Amino acid sequence: MEQTLLLTPGPTPIPPQVSSRMSEGMIGHRSNDFNHLMENIQPKLKTLLGTKDSVAILSSSGTSALEAAMVNLVKPDESIVIIVSGAFGDRFKNIAGTYPFDVHVYDVEWGEAADPKKFKDFLNEKKNIKAVFSQSCETSTAVIHPLNALGKAVKSYNEETLFIVDGVSIVGGMEFDMEKDNIDCLVTGSQKALMLPPGIAFVAMNETARQKSADNDLPRFYLDINRYFKALDDQSTPFTPAVSLIQGLERVLEIYEEDGVESVFERHVKMRDMLRAGLRALDLEMLVADEYASPTVTAFKSDEDELKVIKDKLKNDHQITIAGGQKELKGKILRIGHMGYMFPHDMIRVLAALEAVLSDYRNEKYYGKALAAAQEEYYGKL
Ligand SMILES: Cc1ncc(COP(=O)(O)O)c(C=O)c1O
Repeated sequence: MEQTLLLTPGPTPIPPQVSSRMSEGMIGHRSNDFNHLMENIQPKLKTLLGTKDSVAILSSSGTSALEAAMVNLVKPDESIVIIVSGAFGDRFKNIAGTYPFDVHVYDVEWGEAADPKKFKDFLNEKKNIKAVFSQSCETSTAVIHPLNALGKAVKSYNEETLFIVDGVSIVGGMEFDMEKDNIDCLVTGSQKALMLPPGIAFVAMNETARQKSADNDLPRFYLDINRYFKALDDQSTPFTPAVSLIQGLERVLEIYEEDGVESVFERHVKMRDMLRAGLRALDLEMLVADEYASPTVTAFKSDEDELKVIKDKLKNDHQITIAGGQKELKGKILRIGHMGYMFPHDMIRVLAALEAVLSDYRNEKYYGKALAAAQEEYYGKL
């Protein structure tokens, strides 16, 4: 028996204290206990999503929050732009294609971040765009987009155009400030940096977005976000929520307070830098330039055979699970998640295992190389 290590970019490991809170016992969702729970959660949740407005909680996976943002904030026949730089931009595009919207795609090469200047030029050529959708972290490529500059580009195009951001793989691992970044709606999910099992999703909307969704007559029922915000006025939810996950969420938010949000965000950056230094010391190429490297997930390239050996050996010989590439990056990259209940020593463990795997596969001695590079990042250069 050996301890397993789940280093995928979601789902992620659950802290024992969160598991324990989730198993304390069920409470009725129409009870004062539940209302207290919801009341307690809101202010802390607002801090993580960087908003002063209420955050709706849906009992469904992250995609439901993406769809909720779309069906509530886009009216029939309106024109929208979707920034597509990977599998989750594609997800937004596919959702949009299901509805009667006029969809324009701003394509970004997978592995690159959107260039705000080029994006602004693209937008300025379009007429009457009512909303722009983008990922913050495109999990499939491990890129982080320059949200502040993109938000500025959207608002300089038209102050009333909404900027909607998918933060599923990064909220909780990086600071957000919706007002500063001109984000009108930010959505996320539970199973990544927020250290919870899959099953709940979050939608934060500012006043402008709430007003638009209240005025929108596109048919919708379970994902009608107005119901969630109305129920929140009574510290409640419109339908039976995933009560145990919300109990766990309360504990997660306490952990953020105990550790200090700043220090949690710093830990994520440290893990990224350690990992990138270590991987480079193993002669592995990064998919993403340092400037746009996400603090929550890292992607590296190699040839398909080597990637397969790495993934399989990590799993079978070292009990470490990492993720492959998706769609057009399948067989071209591997991804290591480093968000939520993960720590610098987990980076040390995966790098040590990689040294062993590659020393054997390439018949070249890598022992100590990745560890020295990562430790220098962590402890400082001597
Ligand atoms: C950026 C991003 N958006 C959306 C999703 C979809 O979330 P879910 O699989 O919970 O529906 C994911 C999941 O990996 C994601 O990483």
